[in-house]
Amino acid sequence: MERRWFDLLMDDHSMTEKVLDALERVLQASEAPGADTVRGMVDYFVEYADGTHNRKEEEHLFPLLERRGMPRDSGPLAVMLAEHEESRRLLGHVRAAAEAYLGGDPAAGPGLGEAFGAYAALLKAHYWKENDILYPMAMRVLGPSDEAAVVEGISAVEARLGADGHRCYSALAARLVEAGEVRDLSYALDRAVLAAMLNTLPVEISFVDAEDTVRYFSHENRDKIFPRSRGAIGMKVQECHPEKSLHLVNRILADFKAGRRDAAEFWIDFRGMKVHIRYFAVREPGGAYLGTLEVVQDLSPIGALQGERRLLSEA
Ligand SMILES: [Fe+2]
Ligand SMILES: [Fe+2]
Repeated sequence: MERRWFDLLMDDHSMTEKVLDALERVLQASEAPGADTVRGMVDYFVEYADGTHNRKEEEHLFPLLERRGMPRDSGPLAVMLAEHEESRRLLGHVRAAAEAYLGGDPAAGPGLGEAFGAYAALLKAHYWKENDILYPMAMRVLGPSDEAAVVEGISAVEARLGADGHRCYSALAARLVEAGEVRDLSYALDRAVLAAMLNTLPVEISFVDAEDTVRYFSHENRDKIFPRSRGAIGMKVQECHPEKSLHLVNRILADFKAGRRDAAEFWIDFRGMKVHIRYFAVREPGGAYLGTLEVVQDLSPIGALQGERRLLSEA
């Protein structure tokens, strides 16, 4: 279906609202925002939210509404225009704070968050007024040829961004939204550090993915309770598991996949050790099955603990 002028303008609003929400999260986070995000933020709001979206209204929608009898110096149109001016003033503060931040001024961080907060609050209230008050009023006063003229005007303003302009700004908006997504803390860890951490755990772990393929095991090249060879990586777990316990493995995997259970545990006496073998379903925050984690640990030293130790032992 053909998109009408208000669909196009409200698409801009909704894209920008998502960017506003994401950046508010970024600027409130304890981690300092990346330079790329701050540069992208200034670019998006100066060039798109103000330089393109507001121009569509100021150059094409508002003048037509004025010609159809809506006064420019009082009522909704005057309020919208005053808010565009105020948003430019607040965007100026955002820009100045962003430049100071990018210039390496550590004191600029809180200022940037504050300036952006004021700008975002105004923009959100403004979009709400346009979506719910101004546009419905405009729909009543604009005839079909007026509507076509606004759509044409919107395309002309977009064309100033260049052939790929709209796509580029949509992609920039998506990148900014992504920057605001809440990520697991492991995101900021270096891969080598993460690998070293897994090898430092006082348990041996192996991971089999959702297709039952062996993808990882820790403690490679160290003494292991159950030695593994690198050749197992990429094999189906069923191809590299002792035949006699295969039925159990298959049953556990089937239960995990079906969501019937999240863990299974066994313990065996093995070479003088009390070996605890646990399987855990690894799931996305939403619950989707990602694979199975096997955790193997010798419980003997733990089982032998008696009394308390509250002081540091000799190294
Ligand atoms: Fe507006
Ligand atoms: Fe608008």
